[in-house]
Amino acid sequence: MPSYSTNPSIGIDFGTTNSSIALARANGAVELVSFPTATAVTESFRSVLYLEQRKQAGRTQIKGFTGPSAIEHYLDAEHKGRLIQSLKSYLTSRTLTGTEVFGRRYTIEDLISRILSDLRANAERQFGEPILRATVGRPVRFVGAETDEDDAFAVDRLRKAFLHAGFEAVQFEMEPIAAAYAYESTLDHDELILIGDFGGGTSDFSLLHVGPGVRSRGRTAKDLLGNSGLGLAGDSFDARIVRKLVSPALGSNSFERSYALASDRPASIIPAAPAWIYANLERWHYLSFLKTRNVAEILKSARARAQEPEKIEALINLIEEDLGYQLHQAVQRLKIELSHHDSAEFWFRDGSMDIVATVRRADFEGWIADELRSIERCVDALLTSSNIKPGEVDRVFLTGGTSFVPAVRKIFEARFTAARVRTGNEFTSVARGLALRAAETSA
Ligand SMILES: Nc1ncnc2c1ncn2[C@@H]1O[C@H](COP(=O)(O)OP(=O)(O)OP(=O)(O)O)[C@@H](O)[C@H]1O
Ligand SMILES: [Mg+2]
Repeated sequence: MPSYSTNPSIGIDFGTTNSSIALARANGAVELVSFPTATAVTESFRSVLYLEQRKQAGRTQIKGFTGPSAIEHYLDAEHKGRLIQSLKSYLTSRTLTGTEVFGRRYTIEDLISRILSDLRANAERQFGEPILRATVGRPVRFVGAETDEDDAFAVDRLRKAFLHAGFEAVQFEMEPIAAAYAYESTLDHDELILIGDFGGGTSDFSLLHVGPGVRSRGRTAKDLLGNSGLGLAGDSFDARIVRKLVSPALGSNSFERSYALASDRPASIIPAAPAWIYANLERWHYLSFLKTRNVAEILKSARARAQEPEKIEALINLIEEDLGYQLHQAVQRLKIELSHHDSAEFWFRDGSMDIVATVRRADFEGWIADELRSIERCVDALLTSSNIKPGEVDRVFLTGGTSFVPAVRKIFEARFTAARVRTGNEFTSVARGLALRAAETSA
């Protein structure tokens, strides 16, 4: 009989873009789950689900794949099924509670639970024991949340998805607090720290006292000075890139032909395709929902009336071929390049579409200026409400994929000086900290 520890200390970070799982050992060491891909092994599992229809023995079945295998199956498929990204961002929506795929209705909880089941199976395989409980991360503010009730609604749905995936019980912890515990494990003294966790969907902040002294005397409510957060991060930056570089090539600034032909131009210009279609194009998690008969009909008639029908044709192709993933990749490539260089090339080619542009980092920073200001305001509000001056913060720890963006780092360097800003474990610090938290609460 294998000997199971009754309750392994498991932390699960179900992220908007990437997920990871960690186990904290009794000696404080943390082990991350590795996920195999076709070419390598990774500790961050893409939070994507791919559903496709297959004919087997005369019967039609819907097969689901998650993480790296979702992407591999999607790319290999001749007839594309549905690739669904950024599912965590739907959790606050009371109107979009599910979707129909190949004639079958799925709730958002069902879709998320498919990803969670596979994460759990990978963890059980690696750790060799059943995983029925976990400490799970949640953002301070979910994408789309305006009130605490909206957040509670999202947490409740996330809990349901975990239970659906076979977990018996989950406890939630704020994602930036989890990142603080991961950072704390590197400390040999106590500090007042500000955490900034910048992911795909949300930016989250916590201000708290951590360190070996705090841990050994026992944490108290006073150690946490405050949390704040906002439902924008990497996906919102991507939306700006799509708006500036991609949508115009797909007709967002094009008009109906009657406008171009009329000698006495009408006072109001009629756009060829409705603006809401481009708004959905900017959001990864809405893009795959554009593949409906209704949208196809709207676009077909827009193409017939458009001054630049080839642009609408390219948009139809993008939606029909479900090229959201390729578009996401092109945008990510640009963003990552711009994190390292002053300028980078954007290219997105497919069939009739060929978009190439050189983008300077300064341009990109201009496009995301509103988002950067919102982040600044959120950080400043946390300091003010906690009655802490920037000079009193010993260290700032920035984590999450979007913390690579130089303009995001600059916000903290300007307030706290570069010498006090630390970065690291961008994709795994939340899961590590959640596992440490699980160990602490079960001790
Ligand atoms: N080098 C980079 N420069 C800029 N952005 C990056 C870089 N690497 C990753 N990103 C962005 O980081 C985001 C993903 O980060 P991360 O995995 O931390 O998010 P997440 O945990 O899934 O999301 P959330 O915490 O919001 O639920 C994506 O928007 C991705 O494009
Ligand atoms: Mg995250």
